Amino acid sequence: MTGTKVTAEAIRNMKSSKQRIAALTAYDFPMARLLDEAEIPFILVGDSLGMVVLGYPDTTHVTMMDMEHHVRAAARAKTRSLLVADMPFQSYRTVDEALINAKRLVLAGAEAVKAEGGREILNQVEAIVSSGIPFCGHLGMLPQRVLEEGGYHIKGKKEMEHQALLADADALVDAGAFATVLELVTPSVSKELTRRISIPTIGIGAGQDCDGQILVTPDLLGMLPWFNLKHVKPILNAAEQMRAVVKEWKKNVELTTQAIHDAP
Ligand code: KIV
Repeated sequence: MTGTKVTAEAIRNMKSSKQRIAALTAYDFPMARLLDEAEIPFILVGDSLGMVVLGYPDTTHVTMMDMEHHVRAAARAKTRSLLVADMPFQSYRTVDEALINAKRLVLAGAEAVKAEGGREILNQVEAIVSSGIPFCGHLGMLPQRVLEEGGYHIKGKKEMEHQALLADADALVDAGAFATVLELVTPSVSKELTRRISIPTIGIGAGQDCDGQILVTPDLLGMLPWFNLKHVKPILNAAEQMRAVVKEWKKNVELTTQAIHDAP
């Protein structure tokens, strides 16, 4: 796919051509540009920015204005990758609200939007897709429901959850979604969903049998040593390295300053 602009359609077609999808999050210009240069086809300006950039305890504090600000920054990288933006908490409660806010994200530079839920947001998904904005689903553990659910729990263990996931995934496909994220879904249900639906499944903490995988980039890079996540093994210890570099630089500044004062 080198060189050509990645569209939502191209991401959808990666399933039939059996190409695995590597997706990561970016919240600003340098990260979007670096991920694009690394040929990551799907970049998400996730509402995880609430926790990993803005320091909130969860994603329910993220506003449309926060999302627009970060989408604009990422979009300035003019990526070849598809730039997808999350619709934040309570920004798609009705069809009209969903349409207005999806359009705001597109005006900020997003090329597709993602929102959490299945059958309960079907009218919103259909309206967004009909308006010409590509839509990515998000099923399983829904971080925007964390207050309601009292934590981040794995989905699909109970038969009722399993059946609900199948029905929600089918509904998203019928409504025209081009892909769906599966977050914290049991590996066996993720595998069943991946075989069942015609659009790509992109897993996070949902086992290996998805059409692709997505991670929050600062988790992958070990930039947030204060949180311990079961589904990510950082491949870099960026926080440690940054601390060491900053300490070294500080030591040099202090030594140089000392030398100026000690000079005859
Ligand atoms: O907000 C986000 O970063 C996400 C990913 C975890 C999929 O939705």
